[in-house]
Amino acid sequence: MAVSMDLPATQRAIVANDELDYSIQDDISLPPLSPDSVIIRTSHVGLNPVDTKMVGPFVGAGATYGVDCAGEVVALGADIAASRRLELGDRVAGCADGMEAIRPRSGAFAEYSSVHGDMVFKLPECMSFAVGAGMPLRIATAALALFHSLGLPSELLDEQQKKRGESFDVLVYGGATSTGTMAIQLLKICGLRVITTCSPKNFELVRGYGADECVDYHSPTCGPDIRAMTGNKLDYALDCVTNEGTMKICYQALGRCGGKCRTSSFLLDEFQPVSFNAPISNCSLATYGTDTPHPDVGLEPYPDTAATRQAVRPDWILVTWMRGLPISWPAPFGTETAKPGYQAFGREVMPKLHRLFEEAKLSSHPIREEKDGFEGLLDGVDFLRKGKVRGEKLVYRTQERRSVVSAAA
Ligand SMILES: NC(=O)c1ccc[n+]([C@@H]2O[C@H](COP(=O)([O-])OP(=O)(O)OC[C@H]3O[C@@H](n4cnc5c(N)ncnc54)[C@H](OP(=O)(O)O)[C@@H]3O)[C@@H](O)[C@H]2O)c1
Repeated sequence: MAVSMDLPATQRAIVANDELDYSIQDDISLPPLSPDSVIIRTSHVGLNPVDTKMVGPFVGAGATYGVDCAGEVVALGADIAASRRLELGDRVAGCADGMEAIRPRSGAFAEYSSVHGDMVFKLPECMSFAVGAGMPLRIATAALALFHSLGLPSELLDEQQKKRGESFDVLVYGGATSTGTMAIQLLKICGLRVITTCSPKNFELVRGYGADECVDYHSPTCGPDIRAMTGNKLDYALDCVTNEGTMKICYQALGRCGGKCRTSSFLLDEFQPVSFNAPISNCSLATYGTDTPHPDVGLEPYPDTAATRQAVRPDWILVTWMRGLPISWPAPFGTETAKPGYQAFGREVMPKLHRLFEEAKLSSHPIREEKDGFEGLLDGVDFLRKGKVRGEKLVYRTQERRSVVSAAA
């Protein structure tokens, strides 16, 4: 264990008050330091849609909100210190466990945040804390969806594996979401062809991340158009929005079952796919095809009524499952014990993502740095809930305060 000498006894943080609502408090204890975690003195925090959904049974009184943060490492747990991957003073971004009643000090919206080592990314020199604070959750989410739930081989992120393969199509539904722009990048690094949906004003944005084809999801023929442009052979869909309407489009886009396997040339003989989800967990991608439903993965629990094709296997994910710890949220998000396979997957894939991130190969979503620190962030929760944030990620400086003058303005 290594700890900077100048840590205060208390800090400012956004926590849930007794009414289970967001409240800024100045006398919050610092998070405990576990052997597998670090403590980050945050410079900036990033606001995500999930932070705005923490209401009712998701909230534990006294627990800290927030997932994304960036700052400087000020304490290293014993295991992290021994691994030497991170050091005191490192500039990092972290994906914390926001609003978790079992570990109430684990959220990111605080001056000091505790983050599991696997979820800590060292910032490349060229990246500011403001930009870094918009990165971690979208990286972890896109990776979990693509390489665990969809079952794409994460080996494709390695240069030498990519050269062995031929390309195939993947649909990223909702390409202008912050998760979508990261998924597009990861898929392009893997050498795959990306079809995406977004509003026409964001076509240029998603092309900038590498999308090969953009389709307006407002079009009544969006799903059939994608099916046509992929020759009725689309096998993989990641739905970054996930509701009845978006699933309908993904289901229309996915090809007919029985498509010939087009992925075998990616594989080394000994390769086994990184997937723990039935029914594809026992078959290698080399044999995947004829009788196997196509995976369609969402970022929210999907409505059963929208699962209308037997040829499609719907799934959804929660990034926090990768921590391998109990989660206090209500079903189907919460879990009393670790969900099998997720933590092992995280341990396997995160080092590849750390490397890509440190080499500055993963770009940020457009960042909007807002003013007034935590007070400003509470306004941001409202903007996000009203759907006023599109194609941007809001970040806030932890040390900034709303002055009386700007509050009155
Ligand atoms: N399960 C998990 O672990 C996990 C992790 C992260 C996020 N999530 C969830 O995933 C969702 C996306 O989060 P995010 O932060 O990536 O999103 P975001 O950046 O806040 O997404 C904003 C964008 O969503 C797009 N959008 C809205 N409705 C759409 C629709 N019907 N079809 C296509 N695009 C639509 C808009 O694109 P246009 O401007 O082009 O219209 C908008 O620009 C949220 O519900 C979030 O809570 C889940």
